[in-house]
Amino acid sequence: MPFLPYHTIQLTADVKGERKLTQLDLLRENLAQCDEIILDALLMRNRIVEDIMSYKESNDLPILQPEQEAKQQKWLQGRLDGKRHVSEVQSVFQSINKNSKRIQARRLFHYNLVLIGFMGVGKTTMSDYFNTMFAMDVIEMDQIIARREGMSIPDIFEVHGEEYFRNCETELLVEMQSRNNVVISCGGGVPMRERNVTEMKKNGRVILLTAEPETILERVRDDHSRPLLEDNKNVAFIRALMDKRRDKYEAAADIIIKTDGKSIQQIGEEIILQLRIMDGLRA
Ligand code: S3P
Repeated sequence: MPFLPYHTIQLTADVKGERKLTQLDLLRENLAQCDEIILDALLMRNRIVEDIMSYKESNDLPILQPEQEAKQQKWLQGRLDGKRHVSEVQSVFQSINKNSKRIQARRLFHYNLVLIGFMGVGKTTMSDYFNTMFAMDVIEMDQIIARREGMSIPDIFEVHGEEYFRNCETELLVEMQSRNNVVISCGGGVPMRERNVTEMKKNGRVILLTAEPETILERVRDDHSRPLLEDNKNVAFIRALMDKRRDKYEAAADIIIKTDGKSIQQIGEEIILQLRIMDGLRA
């Protein structure tokens, strides 16, 4: 239906006593037509996003192509040049992009991504990556526990003891059974409890990130949020604790990714590829 040219309409009295069409009615009619167009375009756009995913999948192309997003942003900036309501339109496009990422994430992972590994292996960093690339919600276990308890992790250890903290971890994992397609960034000690591993595997794929003790030391050197490392910042201690935990980490893992010397993007792509192989979507 073409747009009604409301700016040219002359309001006329209706002689038959029917309700006359006011300019406000026309404006509302036009707005409703805009919404129809937006809705159709969005539905079509989402279908195309899925088609692009299918194409990439069947042609073994990388799922993530960040240069495309940059290209679209440049296009939008150019098109909005000199127009009104620039920030409002930009915010709509941001939301469209975020939802495209969500569509991709749901299609790729019908489960939670559970990141495990020693302190400093990059669980938080990789959670941020999945949040940026796929708009997935992140459950940062330490952060949530600290917020709920109203104190930092070192304070929880000091006031209530480690066992209390470990119980908080188990409770949170059980709670996560009701979530889907989120990234769960586990504290380094989480997989030490068999019960925790059972819980995380119920609706998650477990991704073990690893790094050499020397790499870990570099990464945690200036950090003071880890009570277990605070007075033990040396390779010998890190290696010993790592050796003690290795069997449990490996037993819990569905996939294992080495992080030393790799960029965030390389690690991210490797995780996606390994999961797709595991899900039987890639050879
Ligand atoms: C711990 C790791 C920490 C935190 C707490 C205990 C551990 O989490 O849960 O300090 O036992 O390895 P990160 O691995 O996120 O540093």
